[in-house]
Amino acid sequence: MSTDKKKFLSVDDLSDGELHRLFFRARSNGFGNHNKRILVTAFFEASTRTRISFEIAAYRLNMSVSTFDSSSSSMSKGEDLVETIGNLLAMGPDALVVRQSISLDPAVLGHSSSVLINGGDGVNEHPTQALTDCYTLLDRFKTDDLSGKKILIIGDIANSRVAHSNIKLMTRLGAQVVLLSPEPFRLETDLGQSGEIFSFDNADFDTDVIMCLRIQRERIKGAVALSDEEFFHGYGLTLNRLGRFKDSCHILHPGPINFGVEMEQKIAFDPRALIRDQVRNGVLVRMALLDYLLS
Ligand code: CP
Repeated sequence: MSTDKKKFLSVDDLSDGELHRLFFRARSNGFGNHNKRILVTAFFEASTRTRISFEIAAYRLNMSVSTFDSSSSSMSKGEDLVETIGNLLAMGPDALVVRQSISLDPAVLGHSSSVLINGGDGVNEHPTQALTDCYTLLDRFKTDDLSGKKILIIGDIANSRVAHSNIKLMTRLGAQVVLLSPEPFRLETDLGQSGEIFSFDNADFDTDVIMCLRIQRERIKGAVALSDEEFFHGYGLTLNRLGRFKDSCHILHPGPINFGVEMEQKIAFDPRALIRDQVRNGVLVRMALLDYLLS
């Protein structure tokens, strides 16, 4: 090796002996001989809450975090999404959180010992958001399940991965989930919901929880049948509409919120709103999940 050990600019800088010692060291080190666990976050769609809460959760667990930035990655040279994720897994992080617009088939990613976590896949699922939302309700109600609780989910149910994961998990925990959405956003599949209504007038005003969801415009091909104004007029949660429900009815929204579309701004700051609790609890739940999956 060159006398200046801080530079490696050419393969010529290693002697034959140094070359073989380096390969020996690579084989001996492997991936498993280091104490520090590593989380990689790879978000191919925008995120505020999910990515940062995973990163804070990892730091709080004393993990190291590497954030993948698709705009400066080799995707700009034509590498596709599945190949990119497969390569991130091949580098052996302890866990990889991925958000992307399609449902991933782990079989096409190749063998990996890394834990793969879904940070939201297209219209399919957002499982850690559902864990967060259900935890928030259990924490608020001080119960271990949601038996006897009535939950009304309002909005673009068809295109909302948050809705899909939440309907499954909330009903599994014992809640009755009713959906309220305009015709283009109705759920076609049975995920366990107990009913569907088409107007606030048909709601059960004894409902314990209302979850508002935004229109997922980025996923809708072609023109959206409803303007923001039409949505708010028919389905937006206003203080007036909320006043028809019992006083203890709580409000959830997974974010991001479009005030004046899904809800009136004042509702987010009403004591019945658990929206900031959802965000705070997102860190706790993701810490617990990482700890569990990596233990
Ligand atoms: N709820 C949610 O997934 O928020 P982000 O898109 O900001 O991560």
